[in-house]
Amino acid sequence: MSTKIPPEALSAVSETMLMTLYSHAVESRYPDALIRDPRAEELVARIDYDFATHQLNPTNQAATCVRLRQFDRFAQAFLAAHPDGVVVHIGCGLDTRFDRVDNGQATWYDLDLPPVIELRRKLLDETPRYKMIAASALDLAWLDVVDGHPGKAFLFIAEGVFMYFPDAEMRRLVLALRARFPGAELVFDVASPLIVRLQNLNLARLKADFRMRWSLRSYDALEGWAPGIQCLEMWYYTSVKESIPRLGKLQRLFHLVPLFGKGMVILHYRMDRSLAPMEEQPMKNKSTAWGYAIAALAGAVVGGLAVALATRLIPKVMGQMMDKMMADFPRRMMTRMQAEGRDPAEMCQQMMARMQAEGRDPAEMCRQMMAKGCTQKPKE
Ligand SMILES: C[S@@+](CC[C@H](N)C(=O)[O-])C[C@H]1O[C@@H](n2cnc3c(N)ncnc32)[C@H](O)[C@@H]1O
Repeated sequence: MSTKIPPEALSAVSETMLMTLYSHAVESRYPDALIRDPRAEELVARIDYDFATHQLNPTNQAATCVRLRQFDRFAQAFLAAHPDGVVVHIGCGLDTRFDRVDNGQATWYDLDLPPVIELRRKLLDETPRYKMIAASALDLAWLDVVDGHPGKAFLFIAEGVFMYFPDAEMRRLVLALRARFPGAELVFDVASPLIVRLQNLNLARLKADFRMRWSLRSYDALEGWAPGIQCLEMWYYTSVKESIPRLGKLQRLFHLVPLFGKGMVILHYRMDRSLAPMEEQPMKNKSTAWGYAIAALAGAVVGGLAVALATRLIPKVMGQMMDKMMADFPRRMMTRMQAEGRDPAEMCQQMMARMQAEGRDPAEMCRQMMAKGCTQKPKE
């Protein structure tokens, strides 16, 4: 009887890979499975870990597999275009993408932190086309390990990983990939700042000792990091056209509320350094920044005018209009009553009675009316 292998010395972030692995294994057993992953089922059976203690939320489980399926599609599309290409799977965890998408020609590297790769090595074998790298993606020495395939196309793929990296490290990594592997493609997922904040609230509620750190306000933002970086595709949960019953209300929510529907994205970039240098090439993000600056300035001017109008001009004009109306009021009333053959004095009396009832001074009103030509004094 073979003994089970315990995961050892995993960080809290690394431990999350066990749940994604379990999600993939569970998915495989559904008759309408979004993905088939018999290797994940096999690994779950061989790891000494109580997967069942984590109650899998069925909607989250399905959402994880929709994301996984899309990552697989990006990898398959790359290999269809470059059958002998090189794929580097950053933060691979225990995912078995190589088994799911291998075309028999590609070279594949699975990279993760040393404790993860140690566990992987106990479970899976390397081959001439399949290698594992035990390193932090942020320690760029690993670039030397994969850089030995002249003329081959490169895909760097990272699922559920980059959101844990600080922004400065993300920039360093992307710029290093661009410098070292011109023309390489990069596929990764990221969330909006709002979703990251919500996820972090949830992690705090669960008392997890890690947080998400990286988010993107604008998903083509990497284009502004250096010339030649180009966003080729953005995939959202709302890009899924078919109805996935196991996503249930979540799928409807994604379609109804874009803040959620587009709050998470898989981005497909190409990094090329052979394009024009930054000064010569109008940068999308630079112009966006200028656009924001001009819009902010215009907003400030319009806002200032609006405040000035509201606080000064409008009361002044309204006051003048009211004064004119009040000054004209008795004369206009008298003209109209005379035209209608009514007695203005009667009207004065009625008004006096109402003003007295309201505690106002009728004499003032009468003086105004007489000054405007009301010759008849009100009867006592
Ligand atoms: C949520 S898991 C995702 C695993 C896998 N991509 C999947 O979808 O099943 C996050 C992974 O990122 C890895 N990771 C975290 N920091 C890393 C780093 N600095 N370098 C490489 N991998 C890292 C963790 O070890 C873990 O395997």
